[in-house]
Amino acid sequence: MTAPIRKAVFPVAGLGTRFLPATRAMPKEMLTVVDKPLIQHVVDEARAGGIEHFIFVTGRNKGVIEDHFDKQIELEQTLKERGKQAELDMLTASLPSPGQTSFTRQQEPLGLGHAVWCARDLVGDEPFALLLPDVLVQSSGKGCLAQLQEEYKRSGGNVIAVEEVPDDATHRYGIADIERGAGASHAVKGMVEKPVPGAAPSNLIIMGRYLLQPEIFGILEGQQRGAGGEIQITDAMITLLASQKFTAVEYEGKSFDCGSKIGFLAANIAFALEREDLRDALLEEIAKLT
Ligand code: UTP
Repeated sequence: MTAPIRKAVFPVAGLGTRFLPATRAMPKEMLTVVDKPLIQHVVDEARAGGIEHFIFVTGRNKGVIEDHFDKQIELEQTLKERGKQAELDMLTASLPSPGQTSFTRQQEPLGLGHAVWCARDLVGDEPFALLLPDVLVQSSGKGCLAQLQEEYKRSGGNVIAVEEVPDDATHRYGIADIERGAGASHAVKGMVEKPVPGAAPSNLIIMGRYLLQPEIFGILEGQQRGAGGEIQITDAMITLLASQKFTAVEYEGKSFDCGSKIGFLAANIAFALEREDLRDALLEEIAKLT
């Protein structure tokens, strides 16, 4: 039997330089897609995927993320007094229960792998989920993390979500080299972070959702800097692959890289178009512009 995955890590300590000047004082993870900050979308996906404890690796200027997941007593009181029940329900529905969140700090943004390592004591000796908050996933059925959890129940080990991109985009991502299975799940043979153009072993990107065994922390402890001078989670996963199984899941859905301006704009349109209260009005506005 595989140990259940109950905890998720959300690294939110990056500088968000691709989104300056918006991120000068505001965390990238608080940028809003339709009417929810990125981090709220991803926490909701994690909850739908069975996560019970939410661990945030924060940094300087990120305090507002902690406030976002706190109870807003005055606001709730005012909404109650004004009879705004729908707004009140919306506010309270997505709030984690007391004790369900933990926050730790990455004092310097040394890379994603280093941010994950900062969560080692909070995760402890159990498998955990890792979700990149600047990647949003739109799927018609189950959320991406729920789909990974299903695979994990079948195969155990480590599970990563992968998605096809055009060949000329592979150099921007971590890439999985796979032994193609019959369905959507494949054994991972290798991984490479940001391969030079033309050298990628496949066009399947490791897009930002992972289920990892705790042995990754021991590897991250001694991990050297890799691509971009940062401590990379992919490099640590490559080491772990020598002793543990990794399964890549071509999940049902589409990801948006909301750390880039175009990905963020596309996500806003895509998520608004699936909302009944916004779809028609938005299409009308777009038609006026084009
Ligand atoms: P990114 O590389 O997309 O974020 O990391 P970034 O470094 O903030 O962005 P740019 O490239 O400068 O625009 C993916 C996630 O990992 C976190 C980020 O906050 C983001 O949510 N991260 C990244 C950390 O927590 N610590 C780091 O050292 C690096």
